[in-house]
Parts: sequence; structure tokens; C-alpha cells
Amino acid sequence: MKQQYESLLEQKLGICTPSPVQPLHLDWPGSDRLHLFVKRDDLIHPIISGNKWRKLKYALSDAVHDGVNEVISFGGGHSNHLHALGYACMKLGIQLRAMVRGDYREHLTPTLTDLQNWGAQLHFLSKAEYQQRSDPAFLHKYHHQYPDALLIPEGGSQQQALAGVAEIYAELTQQVDVIMTPVGSGGTLAGLIHANAAVELVGVGVLKGEGYLEQLVTDLLPQPSHQRWQILHRFHCGGYAKATPDLLRCCEDVKQQCGFQVEPVYSGKLFFALAQLLKENYFSAGSRILILHTGGLRQ
Ligand SMILES: Cc1ncc(COP(=O)(O)O)c(C=O)c1O
Repeated sequence: MKQQYESLLEQKLGICTPSPVQPLHLDWPGSDRLHLFVKRDDLIHPIISGNKWRKLKYALSDAVHDGVNEVISFGGGHSNHLHALGYACMKLGIQLRAMVRGDYREHLTPTLTDLQNWGAQLHFLSKAEYQQRSDPAFLHKYHHQYPDALLIPEGGSQQQALAGVAEIYAELTQQVDVIMTPVGSGGTLAGLIHANAAVELVGVGVLKGEGYLEQLVTDLLPQPSHQRWQILHRFHCGGYAKATPDLLRCCEDVKQQCGFQVEPVYSGKLFFALAQLLKENYFSAGSRILILHTGGLRQ
């Protein structure tokens, strides 16, 4: 029965899974020692793209199943998560209340303009208020004000997201030794860890978050996992959404050599890290490395 809801939901939203896995041909030093692949989750949907669908799939299908008609979630003015959720809610006839970090009333970002056009209610929170976004006492206020609303945390990163992310493994038709993914709110890496697959996981922190990101991931795991995982913290290029000329050159290089785009906030930093790790001969020769393209591009 639940499965029926899931496939109906996929049809209604126009979701394309499984996403393809493609060989990666890069002329970067060190790449000839390894087998490189990219999983094109960016092709899952033009808006609910990449890890957005993976993380929201079960929250949305449960919402539809349970007849939820209001959702509250959190994000910045450029949040890919709010954008994907706003579109999905519009398609599903669910009211989204978007709790936005900062006051954009005077100048809505393109993301917020889309959300508004899709019928979302925008609520602007001060930085101090936004910092409490995971605090139970703060959330209780929303439960009280909107008793029927479903709360989805920032980035869609919650335990329900783990099963959706883990489906990536079921879609793989070849063996891989390492999967690399960007890490922002931790849900994607946590989902990959939770599946306990025989794969080494390398997360690339996209913000200055040594210790903090590991904690986010660990907090999402319902039980300890035996999977080997780590987060690398030397590729954030100065912090969240910060970019360096080298990073931008790398994004351009990927476009030229691979024929698809990466953006500098998430997937670009992933490829930037890959280029450096290849140069350092970081991986054992002959390893099969899968790069997870988590989307983030606006079409
Ligand atoms: C395009 C994209 N890639 C990667 C990430 C990082 O994933 P996570 O927040 O699950 O760590 C995000 C943020 O959710 C994102 O928008």
C-alpha cells in the first residue's frame, strides 16, 4: 500500500530514478590509476534534484499517505532544500511555511520568489531565532501555532531521510570501493553510512565545520554503524558558499571535460576535493571511486 503511494508520488512529481552512473573521464593527474564514476542524481528532476529527492521521498510520501496539508521547514534565502520542497508542496497541494534565515522582504532572492509564486508562506526569522531551529522548546511554539503541520528540519536531514538516501546502493549495478559526497547538513552522508554497505565513504565538508559536521551525522544515526567513513575539512574554500579562483576553474574544467555542470557550493567542492586527492595518490591504485552528484543547479 505504502509502495503504491511512493510510486504515485514519483509519477505526480515527475521523478526519474534510478539515476544513471557514468564513467568519469578526466585528464587530471592521478586519475589514470583509478576507475572513476559519477552517479548523476542531478538528473532525478529539474527542481527536486539530487539528494533533495533522496532526503524528502519518505517524508513526502508519508505526508501524502497521512493527509498532511501543511508543512513547516527551514532554510536560507538560497536554500535548495526549500526550493525543492516548495515545488513538491505546490504539486501535492500542501501548504509550505518556509522559515527563512534573515529578512529578505525588501529583496526576495530568486529562490524565495519561486517559493512565493508556488504559494509558500514566507516567514523571516532573525539569525538568533534561526539558531534555535532544532531546539524542542522553540519548535514547540510552531506545534502550538500550527498543530496539524509536519515539521521537516533544515536540509531535509532527519532520520526519515536515511532510507531514501540508502536507495542509492540498490540502484548500483557495479561494485564500488569508495563513495564521495558533499556534506552540509549531514543527511546524505548519514543515509549512506546507515546502510552499512561494504564501501568506504568520504564526505567533503562544504563549510568550516570540523567536529560539528561529524556530530550532525552521528546524531542522525539511530545506531552505530560499522561502515568506514570520514569527512575531509580542507576543501571548504573559506566557508559555506565561499569560492576561490581555483574552485571556479575546477567547476569550469568539469564542464569542459565531462559535459555536465557542477556549482561551487556543493558538487564543485566535491570535484575540487577529488582533483586534489587524485594528485596526492590518496586512494589505492585500481580503486573504483563513485562521485555522487547531489544536484544544486537551477534549470
Ligand atoms: C546540492 C546539494 N548537495 C549536497 C548537499 C549536502 O547534503 P547534506 O545537507 O545532506 O549534507 C546539499 C544540502 O542539502 C545540497 O543542496
